[in-house]
Amino acid sequence: MTIIEYFKLNEEPFRISPNPRFLFLNEQVKEASSKVTYMTKHRTAPLYMYGAIGSGKTTLLRRLYEELQDDTTYNLRLLFAPNVKSSMAFLRAIMDAFGVPTDRAYDRSLKLFEGFLIEQYKQNKVPTLFIDEAQNMTRDILKLVHYLLNFETRDVKLLQIVLTGQDELAEKVKRYQELRSRMIPIAINSMSPADLQNMLRFRWSVASGNTSQAPFSDDAFQEVFAYTKGLPRDAIKLADEVLRHLYISQQDTATAAEVTHAARQLDMEK
Ligand SMILES: Nc1ncnc2c1ncn2[C@@H]1O[C@H](COP(=O)(O)OP(=O)(O)O)[C@@H](O)[C@H]1O
Ligand SMILES: [Mg+2]
Repeated sequence: MTIIEYFKLNEEPFRISPNPRFLFLNEQVKEASSKVTYMTKHRTAPLYMYGAIGSGKTTLLRRLYEELQDDTTYNLRLLFAPNVKSSMAFLRAIMDAFGVPTDRAYDRSLKLFEGFLIEQYKQNKVPTLFIDEAQNMTRDILKLVHYLLNFETRDVKLLQIVLTGQDELAEKVKRYQELRSRMIPIAINSMSPADLQNMLRFRWSVASGNTSQAPFSDDAFQEVFAYTKGLPRDAIKLADEVLRHLYISQQDTATAAEVTHAARQLDMEK
């Protein structure tokens, strides 16, 4: 018998992969989603979203990517910054993503891309670029972002950009005065105890496909919060470990003691 069978689930509730189906929409996530959706659609301002490792940025970005892709006004692309080192390579990656032919000369490529953006604007399309792991962007690449943000009509920016990354991203943007003054920040913070508990419960309901409750006592949920300080990825890792213990010892509900035990196994500290 597997863990999934033991708990009568359809799939694993606590996997670390950023699967948008498992995204619990707490206030913070809802607010960040509507900000991104509104500001890109209305071409209001470029955004950067930042937060600790495991706070849920990639999952949210993928969720938005899936949602907005269905909206035909968008021409949406998702890129990963770490794959690219120089600004030339980055520009090429962006243009490739949009299917715009590049030139060997950087300046001419920029011109070609501007032409594409103007054309999109005339067709009422909203070309939008999501960039994940943007904390890795070099100064030169940030300069390119700055340059791209200068492509504009009298009223709006021609390219919508959402940078997403760890806290260093915010520091980098803040150190770059021209970006700082143009871009709007969205902070993704750790969850409150109530949100964290609801998030774990929500994931359980997605995995079970029914109304069965996650096998944690209230004290157990509190203990998960104490060890993870509200960071979703750590909470999921811990909950997964607890589940394994329950299964091995053939128990059906975790108490705080089981959580403590699992946390020690994972070398987590309060
Ligand atoms: N609001 C949420 N609801 C459900 N799961 C979440 C939520 N936020 C984060 N997670 C989960 O936490 C883990 C880490 O999230 P991830 O998006 O990779 O974080 P980040 O990109 O900030 O490092 C993933 O398994 C993700 O599904
Ligand atoms: Mg991520």
